[in-house]
Amino acid sequence: MGYSFAMPKKVFTGYNALERARPDIARLGKRAFIVTGPTVVNLEIFTPVTDFLDSLSIEYKVFSEICGEPTDKMIEAGVECFKTNGSFDFMIAFGGGSPIDSMKAINAIVSNGGKIFDYLGKTIEKCNYPMAAIPTTAGTGSEATKFTVITDTERNIKMLLAGDCLVPDYALVDPQFTVTSTKSITVAAGLDAFCHAAESFTSKKAQPLTDVLALSAVSRIFKYLPIVCKTGRDIAARNQMAIAALEAGICINNVSVTLIHGMSRPIGALFHIPHGLSNAMLLPECFRFAVDGAYNKFAQLGRACGAADLTDDDVTASNKFIEGIEWLCKECGVPTLSEYGIKRTDFMAVVDKMAQDAINSGSPANTIKECTVDNVKSIYNKLWQ
Ligand SMILES: [Fe+2]
Repeated sequence: MGYSFAMPKKVFTGYNALERARPDIARLGKRAFIVTGPTVVNLEIFTPVTDFLDSLSIEYKVFSEICGEPTDKMIEAGVECFKTNGSFDFMIAFGGGSPIDSMKAINAIVSNGGKIFDYLGKTIEKCNYPMAAIPTTAGTGSEATKFTVITDTERNIKMLLAGDCLVPDYALVDPQFTVTSTKSITVAAGLDAFCHAAESFTSKKAQPLTDVLALSAVSRIFKYLPIVCKTGRDIAARNQMAIAALEAGICINNVSVTLIHGMSRPIGALFHIPHGLSNAMLLPECFRFAVDGAYNKFAQLGRACGAADLTDDDVTASNKFIEGIEWLCKECGVPTLSEYGIKRTDFMAVVDKMAQDAINSGSPANTIKECTVDNVKSIYNKLWQ
């Protein structure tokens, strides 16, 4: 069986990675369209970016209307802003996964026309503007993926849109931009990255190159996520998390996600729980379901994260991995649905729709163990036990 492997054209990592990218960014042109959010644009961390562009005599227009996870309406506003502010040479996204996903969607629309919904189920073939992604959270890995997730506000679904051209040309993964992440954002993002790595490692589509990155990411996240939760300004630990998120992003770019993400998107669309947090809520139950589909793979994850060692057989190491996940979620303060404020009756009323939406997304089918709509319903139910 053959595989393909894709990632950004060039990746910059480590403290001051932005400076390292200077010659490459200088070559992109003289006018940049920056996609970001209203909070991050006012943080101290945005100044190095504008100083950097000023030093290169690059003009920029800042579109900072990505409030939370992106919707079709935000994308339309971004397209309008792009079209009414002259011509641009390239795009920069600055922020978490939402501005990065939004940059991709805006690029797709200004390059191909139409509305974002038109591209559901199709491959986006062309993006006219080079893209540089600067993540300010360590989580989504969007800086390394060909995906963008946009909520369709009419149908209440999160649309997963894809195209090779959506992979940013440049990923600038510099921990100096992640130090202001709050604990709740750090946890949600870090556990999103954890799911990317662990899901891709236990996907039917797993491949040798991503397996290496997945194990590395799982190992880093187990060690460093609890540290950055407690000490957000620990730049060395932030760097480890930023690299882990990048590794995990490269994994899903080539392998795709599985059951957890498939089940998480409907929860996010209907109950507006941040993506990483709803993943984390699902994490133990989904893997408890899948574990007997591939003890050899889950055992490797258990050993990589330090929950198990070589003296454990595969079944024991797999079970220790799941215990390790429960420990990690507890250590990071992941709430239950009830603790988050969701009413059980509201949730149960939409379980059938969510289960069908999850299956329709195609992600559960990538799970190494066969997974039916009834299995998905059963896992949703177990979140309340
Ligand atoms: Fe994710």
